[in-house]
Amino acid sequence: MNTTPRPLGSSPVFVGPLGLGCWPLAGMTRAGVTREAAVATVQAAVEAGISHLDTAYCYGQHGESEQAIRAALAAIGPAAREGVVIAGKCGIHWEADASRDPPRRQVVDGRPERIRSEVEESLARLGTDRLDLLYLHAPDPAVPIEESAGELRRLLEAGKARAIGLSNASCDQLRRFAAECPLAACQMHFNMLQQEIEREILPWCTAKGVAMIVYWPLMKGLLAGRMHRGQTFPTSDSRHKYPMFQGEEFARNLEFVDALRTIAAGLASRAEAAGAGCEPVRLPDLVLAWTAEQPGITSVLFGATSPEQVAENARALACDLDEEARRQIRAAILARGPVAGRRAV
Ligand SMILES: NC(=O)c1ccc[n+]([C@@H]2O[C@H](COP(=O)([O-])OP(=O)(O)OC[C@H]3O[C@@H](n4cnc5c(N)ncnc54)[C@H](OP(=O)(O)O)[C@@H]3O)[C@@H](O)[C@H]2O)c1
Repeated sequence: MNTTPRPLGSSPVFVGPLGLGCWPLAGMTRAGVTREAAVATVQAAVEAGISHLDTAYCYGQHGESEQAIRAALAAIGPAAREGVVIAGKCGIHWEADASRDPPRRQVVDGRPERIRSEVEESLARLGTDRLDLLYLHAPDPAVPIEESAGELRRLLEAGKARAIGLSNASCDQLRRFAAECPLAACQMHFNMLQQEIEREILPWCTAKGVAMIVYWPLMKGLLAGRMHRGQTFPTSDSRHKYPMFQGEEFARNLEFVDALRTIAAGLASRAEAAGAGCEPVRLPDLVLAWTAEQPGITSVLFGATSPEQVAENARALACDLDEEARRQIRAAILARGPVAGRRAV
């Protein structure tokens, strides 16, 4: 994988090809992710050279993800903050809602005053005076996007953020946002089986020099290769709500994972035969290396819930695909066909 740091648009911020997505560390995607594990996971990422840390105001009921980042950087040492890129997001929060399970609902609020107060709170939780990258988490349908963008521009000018991004937006919303505020990055979902951004958004970002940061590269763990036929997810695991983990869709996705396993084994044996003497290629190596090398992709955010997962995923930094693996992956994607999707926001 090409590990050269790449710029976020025309901002002064550079990131590597992989970033740690800190959403699962908030303990809201499934039960059992402890604070100790969260802190150790961030620490493992930074120590493995993965210094792009992606978080958000709403990652946790009380900013648990931001607090874990702060604790991990403190444990590494006083110089740690300067060596990392902290990407935060504002514009989404949680409200109690007893009619739901779990009893909360996500609220998108892009009013300038809300954005400002969330950013101040995020900075306090992180123990820092600026975010390296600050996204509007999603456009608020009740607020003209120009108003939200204007507030992000003011935060940029005030030095509270070094670069600004927009997530979960349409191409039209990206255009309108960029007319009001320098736009350095766009964050959208993208993986082997969900490539919708290639139609319009990715070409627009590439043409405008806006960095593309992608989430769900592992399809919420599916493409890491540890799921099995007949697996079910308890209601405490948010994956139970996603169609890709249910019934026929799940079965076909697991067949795709089997195909990837064969491709990974072939890549390893060709490297071995060429005298590279490398370790076996595991699924996260293959999947993250493929995602990172797709044209126009600036950085790939993988989530993890343990230092072991970070160590396994970080191996992708040393993984290079060959033409045969690329051809086989293309064929496997075509054979799988479109998957049932669900939006994050
Ligand atoms: N902008 C947005 O609206 C938005 C939306 C979603 C995500 N994001 C960002 O993008 C990041 C990535 O998305 P994501 O975390 O939802 O999905 P992901 O990276 O596709 O999947 C992450 C999950 O896969 C499992 N996993 C990771 N490495 C593994 C390994 N080596 N072996 C086995 N399982 C492994 C873990 O789940 P378990 O351990 O629980 O099985 C982990 O939580 C997020 O953390 C967040 O920072 C942004």
